Amino acid sequence: DSVNHHSLAVIPGDGIGHEVVSEALRVLQHVQQISGRFQLDVQHFDWSCQYYLRHGRMMPEDGLSTLSGFEAIFLGAVGFPTVPDHVSLWGLLLPIRRGFDQYVNLRPVKILQGIESPLRRYKAGDINFVVVRENTEGEYSNIGGALRPGTPDEVVIQNSVFTRKGTERVMRWAFELARTSRKRLTAATKSNGLNYSMPFWDEVFRQVGREYPDVDQSLYHVDALASYFVTRPESFDVVVASNLFGDILTDLGGAIQGGLGLAASANINPDRRFPSMFEPVHGSAPDIAGKNIANPVAQLWTAKLMLDHLGYPEEGQWILDAIEATLLAGIKTPDLGGTATTHSFTDAVLSRLPA
Ligand code: NAI
Ligand code: MG
Repeated sequence: DSVNHHSLAVIPGDGIGHEVVSEALRVLQHVQQISGRFQLDVQHFDWSCQYYLRHGRMMPEDGLSTLSGFEAIFLGAVGFPTVPDHVSLWGLLLPIRRGFDQYVNLRPVKILQGIESPLRRYKAGDINFVVVRENTEGEYSNIGGALRPGTPDEVVIQNSVFTRKGTERVMRWAFELARTSRKRLTAATKSNGLNYSMPFWDEVFRQVGREYPDVDQSLYHVDALASYFVTRPESFDVVVASNLFGDILTDLGGAIQGGLGLAASANINPDRRFPSMFEPVHGSAPDIAGKNIANPVAQLWTAKLMLDHLGYPEEGQWILDAIEATLLAGIKTPDLGGTATTHSFTDAVLSRLPA
């Protein structure tokens, strides 16, 4: 038959990860039925802080090699107060992002229909850009050390790592994306304060940029850029940033698009030698976990990004359209001022997919 099979590893993780992932899988299943073009062959993994408490690790020793056989990974959120955050992050998420060379972290920032941005003068669609965050090196290097801990003479050092290869490839990817979009690329820098890494970052940006004379190019210090996200967010198309800067900018992006419950992301290995991973920006939200009130939009939008990556942008768009139709109908979870549950919101999305 003409149905394409895609192997999918599902890691719900912790807290609301379970709630939003199971709802998103319902939607994906429905979409694949209507489409008839693909089938997701799903396998579940219970790797999480719960798993850590039983086994002393976030995933089995051969976890990465198990995952390497899959085409994509669909993840909820990882982290819980029972395990220190650096343990859960370095034990699962970062090994996946790095081990699978997912050097592009793509995060769309868009005001959806039916959503009121805290920037009240902007309406649906007025803000519509994507942040491309470098995802494998930069400030999150795991290189450094501590001397004389706990004493008045304590010294800690955390190094950043910027390689020419790593910097070039993420910028080239961002330029290519800008070329298919509104042809505008903005890079986040801080070459005044970080006087080795960021001048290098800027130099690579200008070098790669010469290959893209059709793309409008600008460099802003990240602090100024953060303020422009608030004062003129409509002016951005594609924004490329280092790991730390991208991390911070995208939480701000999540806020101006209406909240963390809406923010989706993709960790992409562009050469497809390894699986790519799709996860919302938000965490496990321990404060609302288990109450069936988490907003599933971020996870659903993440599912759309996954379908885009797998080659089904039309089906992906069905999901985003159904989300917007649901929000426009006033159906919202409590974080957006509504009364819908995670489950009932998803039911409403399901009923708005093409028949
Ligand atoms: P968080 O994103 O889990 O929660 C921040 C606030 O936003 C909370 O008030 C929460 O209720 C709310 N929120 C988040 N997602 C929501 C949703 N879908 N619907 C409604 N409200 C939502 O961030 P926090 O509290 O800093 O971290 C909690 C745990 O999650 C920590 O262990 C952290 O390490 C982990 N984490 C994991 C991430 C990942 O797996 N990629 C990302 C961020 C945090
Ligand atoms: Mg973050």
